[in-house]
This record gives sequence, C-alpha cells and structure tokens, in this order.
Amino acid sequence: MDSTTFENRILVLFAHPAFQKSRVNKVLVEKVRGVPGVTFHDLYEAYPEFDIDIQIEQNLLTNHDVVVLHHPFFWYSTPAILKEWQDLVLQHGWAYGSTGNALRGKILFNVVTTGGREEAYRDEGYNRFTIRGFLAPLDQTARLCGMQFLPPFVAHGTHHMPLEEMEAHAADYRRLLEAIRDGRLDLDSARSASRLNSDLDRVINGQGRS
Ligand SMILES: Cc1cc2nc3c(=O)[nH]c(=O)nc-3n(C[C@H](O)[C@H](O)[C@H](O)COP(=O)(O)O)c2cc1C
Repeated sequence: MDSTTFENRILVLFAHPAFQKSRVNKVLVEKVRGVPGVTFHDLYEAYPEFDIDIQIEQNLLTNHDVVVLHHPFFWYSTPAILKEWQDLVLQHGWAYGSTGNALRGKILFNVVTTGGREEAYRDEGYNRFTIRGFLAPLDQTARLCGMQFLPPFVAHGTHHMPLEEMEAHAADYRRLLEAIRDGRLDLDSARSASRLNSDLDRVINGQGRS
C-alpha cells in the first residue's frame, strides 16, 4: 500500500499487556487494524521482553505525521511499555534539544479505555482529575518535542460495557482516523474538545451541525 497518497500518515502505537484477556480494546483494534494509511504497531507483541528497537521506532515516527498512543488506562497512566518507549525512543538531539527536530509539527493524542465512568473523571469526581489532567506529562512531552498534543479519544466505563457500545466506539475511532488521514480534522474544534469523541461531528470538517 502506498500511504504517501494520503494527507496524513497515521501511526497507532498500541499497548495492552494482556491483550488475550481484552474485551474492549479487542473490538477497537479489530476495527482500525488494516485501515489504509494507518500503520498499526503493537508494542507488547513486538517487544515482549521490552527490548525496544530505537532505530525502528524512530524510523516509524519519522515516516508518519500523526502518532496515536492507544492503550487501556492503567493506574491513571499508560501501560509500562509506553513509558519505556518514551524513555528510549525520544532521545535528546533527535526528539528534543537544540538539534532535536525529528517530531516537530507532528500530532500526538491518546486513545484510552477506562474502567471508570466519565463522571468519575472530574475535579469533583471520584478520581479527582480529568483524563486530560492525568495526561499532563505526555502533553508537556509533546510540547517539548514540538508536537501538537490533542485531547484524547476515550471509551469510559469498560467494566460492564455492552458489545453494541464497544462497536459504536470502534466505529467512531475508525471514523476519526479516516478523517485525520484525509485531512478532515477541524484542529480548532479538536483542541477545544474535552475528548475527541465527545462531539465527533464537530471535530470532523464538513460534518458540523449548523
Ligand atoms: C493494572 C490495571 C490498572 C488499572 N487502572 C485503571 C485506572 O487507573 N483507571 C481506570 O479507570 N481503570 C483502570 N483499570 C481498568 C482498565 O482500564 C480496563 O480494564 C480496560 O480499559 C478494559 O479494556 P480491555 O477490555 O481491552 O482490557 C485498570 C486495570 C488494570 C488491570
């Protein structure tokens, strides 16, 4: 497949340490794996021993415009391999620092599934912070690397989520990736959204409500 024909090349870095037990991410992954213009890269599958190949990862980043960190929310953060990936791949002089310009201008955002319901992720809620608030280290990491950090796509309340709801999230996820790939993301609307899928019609160009 020649991904150069697309407006944006998208790299999905997927991380789930127990994917064989997954319910929700399994449905999401099934829907986006193989979408033209989207490179799906499963980090735990590629590096079960955490022996991350820095050169391969940097080449992948270089060859894409948009980077998606797709993972279940674990302890209010990413699964461990995504931290290892940051620590090893985002090298000084490459990703940041006076000569580190490799990621400049690229877009970064998370696709997250959470056990907790949306109302728990509010200042006054059970978890005391929003998902966006919990993602502050990634937000600033993106800033340091000259990337644009967007609000996350979130599927809340996974514990008792019915299959129809998983499939609806999966369809939205695919729709979002296709829109970004085709240059139909309304960046201003995306930046101001609490999560990208809170009003997907608004963040996708030409689909806004009048
Ligand atoms: C180790 C671990 C930590 C978790 N931490 C959180 C958390 O901090 N917040 C939350 O809302 N859910 C948390 N969960 C629930 C997962 O996010 C949830 O099980 C997952 O998103 C479901 O996706 P799956 O069906 O693909 O596994 C945690 C689950 C595990 C196993």
